[in-house]
Amino acid sequence: MWLKSLVVLALCALLEAKSKDKIKSTNLSLEDYKDKAKDVLSSSTYEYIKKGSLRKSTEKSNKKAFKDILIRPHYFVDVSNISTSTNILDKDVIWPVGIGPTAMHRLAHLDGEVASALAAGAQGSIFVLSSFSTASIEEVAEQAPDTIKWFQMYIYKNRSINMDFMKRAEKAGYKAIVITVDAPVHGKTYLKYPDFDLPPNLSLSNFVGITDRPSQTVSSSFTIEDLKWILSSTSLPVIAKGVLTKEGAKIVRDAGCTGVIVSNHGGRQLDGTPSSIESLPEVVRAVGKDITVMFDSGIRGGDDVFKAIALGAKYVFIGRPVFYGLAVEGQKGVEGVLDTLKQELENVMALSGCASLSDVKRDRVVHWKYYQGLLRNGDEL
Ligand SMILES: Cc1cc2nc3c(=O)[nH]c(=O)nc-3n(C[C@H](O)[C@H](O)[C@H](O)COP(=O)(O)O)c2cc1C
Repeated sequence: MWLKSLVVLALCALLEAKSKDKIKSTNLSLEDYKDKAKDVLSSSTYEYIKKGSLRKSTEKSNKKAFKDILIRPHYFVDVSNISTSTNILDKDVIWPVGIGPTAMHRLAHLDGEVASALAAGAQGSIFVLSSFSTASIEEVAEQAPDTIKWFQMYIYKNRSINMDFMKRAEKAGYKAIVITVDAPVHGKTYLKYPDFDLPPNLSLSNFVGITDRPSQTVSSSFTIEDLKWILSSTSLPVIAKGVLTKEGAKIVRDAGCTGVIVSNHGGRQLDGTPSSIESLPEVVRAVGKDITVMFDSGIRGGDDVFKAIALGAKYVFIGRPVFYGLAVEGQKGVEGVLDTLKQELENVMALSGCASLSDVKRDRVVHWKYYQGLLRNGDEL
């Protein structure tokens, strides 16, 4: 009898420990994921993911500028039911956060882009596959058929590579083409491990059979005519990624893009630009009525998502945190990162009196200078 009670007690203790484990793993902030990833990744891989260009001013200000924006709560609002749902490129989605294009996910976990795409699908997020991925367009499509997928390309010296990629992406069921416009050359960096390269067991899968030197394919002489050619060569909507100014936004709108992603590449390209969140209102004012304005660079919490939405972004993407989730626990880790963001966003919406995303309006955020009497609420950020 006593043995039976002992077994029951032991089982209870095990279950409790398991549920505590569960609470623990869903209770990690994005900063926690980054810290844990640092312990798992090699120093050179961690540095490659984290890096910013030149003196990292832009990389740092992407995060600082979010802190400079403050939230003004509303009161006496029924927030017992929070809805984060929205519509993006004619698709209903349950919330406005997706995984942006980042190269070489297998550096962080051998399941790579397949794990990230599956995690995106499980959390109702869009997955944007980088052309510099370590799993191919087709492999990701086959393994994650239920995830909404977009495909990112650079403009290449040889247009046949763009043509090949567009055809493959269309055939494999991707729903949009993202063209990165802020990288005609690499942003210069100063690193401890400057010779970092893809390990020999991995490859840039999309380029296999096309070239042995994918990094040398990107054009540094592309013009708006190349973007127009892409627009005329695919049936998919085209989105320009990496625009920070009203002038740039108007050019890509006039060329025929369906959307624009306000982004400074996470501070990895031109150092000295404004943060992405500071640039967002200018782009929204210039083209927000005509095309879909999206956002990335610096999002590290649900409060940041809230601020980007309040400033007019229709949808936002994360970059580095996906690697951190992957490194910690593969697909489950990426799901955890997205889940953390989702829970934080719902929490911030409830506490600020926003029951749905349509309540997350421009007047819900203000620059800190407002409290120093330097700005009126509603003044441009
Ligand atoms: C490791 C890494 C690789 C990236 N690779 C690409 C890429 O292949 N194509 C691209 O358009 N952007 C790339 N980016 C930029 C991201 O799409 C995104 O703009 C940026 O990471 C967002 O900032 P965040 O990391 O602060 O969220 C990369 C970023 C990182 C960190």
